[in-house]
Amino acid sequence: MAPALDIADLKKQARRRVPKMFFDYADSGSYTQSTYAANEADFHRIKLRQRVLVDMTNRSLETDMIGQKVSMPVALAPTGLTGMQHADGEILAAQAAEEAGVPFTLSTMSICSIEDVAANTTSPFWFQLYVMKDRDFVGSLIDRAKAAGCSALVLTLDLQILGQRHNDLRNSLSTPPKFTPKHLWQMATRPLWCMEMLKTQRRTFGNIVGHAKNVSDLSSLGTWTAEQFDPQLSWKDVAWIKERWGGKLILKGVMDVDDAKMAADTGADALIVSNHGGRQLDGAPSSISMLPKIAEAVGDRIEVHMDGGIRSGQDVLKAMALGAKGTFIGRPFLYGLGAGGKAGVRQALEIIRKEMDTTLALCGKRNIHEATRDIIADSPF
Ligand code: GLV
Repeated sequence: MAPALDIADLKKQARRRVPKMFFDYADSGSYTQSTYAANEADFHRIKLRQRVLVDMTNRSLETDMIGQKVSMPVALAPTGLTGMQHADGEILAAQAAEEAGVPFTLSTMSICSIEDVAANTTSPFWFQLYVMKDRDFVGSLIDRAKAAGCSALVLTLDLQILGQRHNDLRNSLSTPPKFTPKHLWQMATRPLWCMEMLKTQRRTFGNIVGHAKNVSDLSSLGTWTAEQFDPQLSWKDVAWIKERWGGKLILKGVMDVDDAKMAADTGADALIVSNHGGRQLDGAPSSISMLPKIAEAVGDRIEVHMDGGIRSGQDVLKAMALGAKGTFIGRPFLYGLGAGGKAGVRQALEIIRKEMDTTLALCGKRNIHEATRDIIADSPF
């Protein structure tokens, strides 16, 4: 693959390699995409403090997230249909994360199954759970994640119903892809993607098809989620899920101080300040703008992580400085995956690592634990 200097380069490459319907799926926000845009734009409003003539040798980005050692505070976020950005995408991304010493989170809506990812990796990964009306199926997903040795469960709280992403409707997104002239054209213009995809059997939702009752195929994600996802999900469910899982639990999708307090009350290990990459409630504030308030309110009771809008190592440092103990990246690694498979994910992680390392040094710090408010020159948040 062509070398990339930053995540924006990987995005350009991915756009050229991935069929439009799948590139758009990863890249879109809901409705006007104002929250998606704010997630990125608000990072630019935070200014870093330039320091000079301090010893910058022996730098380290190593820390921990939920008590697990990480080479830098960046986990791969759970993203749906990852195996449609590139054949066997979840396996490749999990392998790249493992090599980089950061956690990989497998989505319920993945193409490669839990068992498949476990069979092709050696480090434990994290599993993200969506709660469906069929609680037996939800229970079986939890048990499967446990049996596969997953070391954390990431429970998504903000998708009881699906936010509308216009592009998915315009593209008539379906998995596996439909063979309409439009879809055939979108695929035919991406021959490298097609060649890889023809070599794999993993082309539908691996955790669901053949496991959930009456699901042998999924044509429309929108219809399926509307029918299956539970709009009645409540804080009481968090208690039984926690009990059934019995391991480290992360609650994803908290954007409000009151909700953060309830999340802390559950006894979960961490929460993720997240608006689902601007894919759910359009009009919600950016994640980074809510992070300091939430960290201030509950940071002493529950570990606070964040996602949404991170496109560089500087963004990770800004999040750490504003109260995050760890961050998640979704689109940056998907662009890498689309651009060049495992090598592309590796490149995305290396770009972010290098940016973080250089930026930390230029802020006059040597250790990621020193990325506190002290590195901020000016912030509206
Ligand atoms: C699923 O998680 C989605 O955002 O599409």
